[in-house]
Amino acid sequence: MDALDKFKAAQRAGWAFFAPLQMFTTIPAGRLAGHAGIRAGMRVLDVACGTGVVAVTAARLGARVTGLDLTPELLEVARTNASLAGVNIDFHEGDVEQLPFDADTFDVVVSQFGHMFAPRPDVAVGQMLRVLKPGGTIAFSTWPPELFIGRMFALVGQFLPPPPPGVSPPPQWGDPATIRERLGAAVRDIVFDRDRIEAPALSVGHYRDVTEKTAGPVVKLVEALSASDPGKLAEFRAAYDALTALYFDRNCVRQDYLMTRATKN
Ligand SMILES: C[S@@+](CC[C@H](N)C(=O)[O-])C[C@H]1O[C@@H](n2cnc3c(N)ncnc32)[C@H](O)[C@@H]1O
Repeated sequence: MDALDKFKAAQRAGWAFFAPLQMFTTIPAGRLAGHAGIRAGMRVLDVACGTGVVAVTAARLGARVTGLDLTPELLEVARTNASLAGVNIDFHEGDVEQLPFDADTFDVVVSQFGHMFAPRPDVAVGQMLRVLKPGGTIAFSTWPPELFIGRMFALVGQFLPPPPPGVSPPPQWGDPATIRERLGAAVRDIVFDRDRIEAPALSVGHYRDVTEKTAGPVVKLVEALSASDPGKLAEFRAAYDALTALYFDRNCVRQDYLMTRATKN
């Protein structure tokens, strides 16, 4: 297994506990489906679909939907979600860096807080654009590096060993200039928008407790430091609480995100 495969295997293990956070990602899924202009009859691919919140939303709008994710535990929940909503979705276990679909297949390719975690942005976006039909829409939601979740990832990065060479920090996908550069000449008509998740929490400690049990990179960090360095874990927790406090107000943690949409040339 090479370094990137090991990195992805660790990611898969970390994301396995994400399902409870679908309570937070359900409302933005509706926003992204609207931003992407998903309508009945369209062929839609939800990349890094997790528990399928965007996929199910698109299917409920009448689209013909495929979902793909690295993490089998989340796909199991996604299948249950599709069944509860009474929709049919074709779910695949797979990697956004190697999409198992023909070129020019989908009318819309979306990803909510998903493709940003692929280690090589150029490979991920190249694959998403390859399977999109000319004239089709690519749309995604990402975390800006200067706001809460982007800063949280940077903080986690300070406490972890550096990733293998060639792995890009996920929040770079939250910067409009970087997005323009990465989409490049393959697209036209880029449109940005912003929205906010208001995550309920009784205190910053409650919020940390939830994310330590569910959010992939935090899960991995806490697991590693609990065994190797409890002092450093305490230091991380104090820094995380201080960061969260900046965005915590009236029992909610503000998580602002960026939405992008573009048309493939
Ligand atoms: C923050 S979760 C978002 C899940 C879902 N889109 C949502 O909005 O609830 C990140 C997801 O990215 C998936 N993921 C990470 N790296 C991936 C890769 N290389 N290929 C496919 N999925 C990946 C994880 O398994 C996880 O489901």
